[in-house]
Amino acid sequence: MATLKLPVFLSKVRGPNATLQKLLQTKSFKNALHKHFSSKNATPISTTAFPEFDSLTNLNCHEDLYKLSLERPELFWGKLARSRLKWEKDFHTVQDCDMTQGKVNWFLDGKINASVNCIDRHLVKYGDRIALIWEKDEPGSQEYITYKQLSEMVNRLSQTLLNHGVIRGDRVAIYLPCSPIAVAAMLACTRIGAIHSVVFAGFSAEALSGRILDAQAETVITANEEIRGGKTINLKKHVDEAVAKSPCVKRVFVYKLIDREIKMNKLDIPLEKAMSESSSKCQPTAMDSNDCLFMLYTSGSTGKPKGVAHSHGGYLTYAAVTFKHVFDYNEGEIFGCLADIGWITGHSYVVYGPLLNGATTVLYSSTPTYPDQGRYWETVERLKINHLYTAPTALRLLLKAGDSWVTKYDRSSLRKLGCVGEPLNHEAFEWYRDVVGENKSDVIDTWWQTETGGICLTPRPSNPGAEILPAMPMRPFFGIDPVLLDAEGKEVVGDDATGALCIRKPWPGMAYTIYGDHNRFIETYYQPFKGFYFSGDGAHRHPGGYYQITGRMDDVLNVSGHRLGTGEIENVMDDHPAVAETAVVGFEHDIKGEGIYAYIILKDEVTDTFEKISKELRELCKSRLASYAQPDIIQFTPGLPKTRSGKIMRRILRKVAANNTDDLGDISTLADPSIVQEIINNHQKII
Ligand code: PRX
Repeated sequence: MATLKLPVFLSKVRGPNATLQKLLQTKSFKNALHKHFSSKNATPISTTAFPEFDSLTNLNCHEDLYKLSLERPELFWGKLARSRLKWEKDFHTVQDCDMTQGKVNWFLDGKINASVNCIDRHLVKYGDRIALIWEKDEPGSQEYITYKQLSEMVNRLSQTLLNHGVIRGDRVAIYLPCSPIAVAAMLACTRIGAIHSVVFAGFSAEALSGRILDAQAETVITANEEIRGGKTINLKKHVDEAVAKSPCVKRVFVYKLIDREIKMNKLDIPLEKAMSESSSKCQPTAMDSNDCLFMLYTSGSTGKPKGVAHSHGGYLTYAAVTFKHVFDYNEGEIFGCLADIGWITGHSYVVYGPLLNGATTVLYSSTPTYPDQGRYWETVERLKINHLYTAPTALRLLLKAGDSWVTKYDRSSLRKLGCVGEPLNHEAFEWYRDVVGENKSDVIDTWWQTETGGICLTPRPSNPGAEILPAMPMRPFFGIDPVLLDAEGKEVVGDDATGALCIRKPWPGMAYTIYGDHNRFIETYYQPFKGFYFSGDGAHRHPGGYYQITGRMDDVLNVSGHRLGTGEIENVMDDHPAVAETAVVGFEHDIKGEGIYAYIILKDEVTDTFEKISKELRELCKSRLASYAQPDIIQFTPGLPKTRSGKIMRRILRKVAANNTDDLGDISTLADPSIVQEIINNHQKII
């Protein structure tokens, strides 16, 4: 049995990693590892899920197939891309990628259309199958949309876009909640070769306009209002504000999600009317495999959000294959990914993965606690969901509500319980497995990112027997070659190792650029460790080769599974007239995983109260970024711990935020070490 040592790296890392440190020390974790290593470990894995490789007689188990995916990626991905997708023209080369330069090309010279793959090719056999279940805000008010109906919506909407001058390669901003019209809008763009940029409908007008401007989007698709958690949200108001600041916008399609009239402006086009006047047939455009399919903005550690761009052939192949094999999806099952389409999880596992597989997918547009804490489980019972895919933050919130909210509903339909977005702590893992799943369903912790396109680490890809250990994504998916590197870029080997989580070999889901800034793409992902993709996360490899994520290694926070750059929040607060300087760090938060802790230096002449300024700062973050970007804790301070060269020593701020001031390390290099004690003293006066 392997001994569990606390990795040195973990004792240095910040924020939620303290939870992981505790986890590694818990008895139940050690017991689980002990059980694992004292039992027979090697479980042969069925390859029947992969008929493409039937003719290869030397494949007996999952490990063989995994080896094949790494050693012969051309064969592995070539066969899967051809059999799982419909190509308008076959590709001649599987990949032309160079990890030393961040060069990404998949399925060269192939031509394909995403909407044909998601809809048209299912129509003959499965036209009447339910494609979407729209789980609206009020329980019991769900709507069902068949593949045929979705096809008509998409055709009319794509024809509408064409009629109004949208052409191949144009960027279209979609500001809509999770709903059939949002899915139709995404697929309508793909039908005509336009690039969709879905902006989470919870983002502020300013965040929306920043993304519209960066993409130079001429077209916006939105709705009048939405209802979420019983509250009406005026989407159009945000869009009006955003459009006023975005001179590139030429047209705004407005869908009536709620039956209420709203004021229409000069650029506005009522979408239902335009669709009813358009043909129900729109010829799909054959796109080059490496043309941009969509872009999706995500936070980095510095500067403005990045428009991460995915191409057609690679992304679609990876979304289709991961969906099928990570969740072991069987035809006819109902897939309930509760993420919003504004995030990559929504793109890959609400829309593309399920529809590429002809599945029935749930569009969840309420909150986890509306009208009460039983909502998820009531929805599982009512819709008979087979696969549930959600975020640890939601699980932690619902766990606190008590088991009776879960047990009063029938969850016997559940077969797989997935989660994503942040480390799944031990308690939440056990609760998910034992209470929600009654120990009958696998809990699948999946690790991946906007940039990876699809799931990269996952316990059991099509491997019914493989053991699942608590609270870690464990194993690489096919084609993924994870590597841990140290600060010098040397590979950390062995089965009890910690380092920067990188990927050695190309995989089809990988992003191919940051829209409009290819240099930033290379600098961020391919320069930190030459020859590898750098994820920005740290990880620990346990005996057995199982991976556990230790958290971000950069200045990106993970708040309730949402990525936020500390710099983004600081920039906004710096604009408050009373503020001289700010510094933001993360701290461990019970529900959110990571909370936002802001240190604020006020200008000398300020006379307003701390309470008033705090309120204004929170409002500012909400109105300029999003609700979840508001600091949980604000501490006013006369100074910040800076080195003589003016660099803020964030490690000290993190320790104070974590209430862990016993060992602050060396502070002698600070310009004014006495400021540290002042910050500690002031720590009590937080707002
Ligand atoms: O830090 C990792 C965390 O979420 C980041 C990616 O965020 P985003 O691009 O918004 O995509 C989220 C959904 C795919 C990662 O860099 N993360 C994601 N999954 C996990 C995770 N952290 C720990 N465990 C996970 N399973």
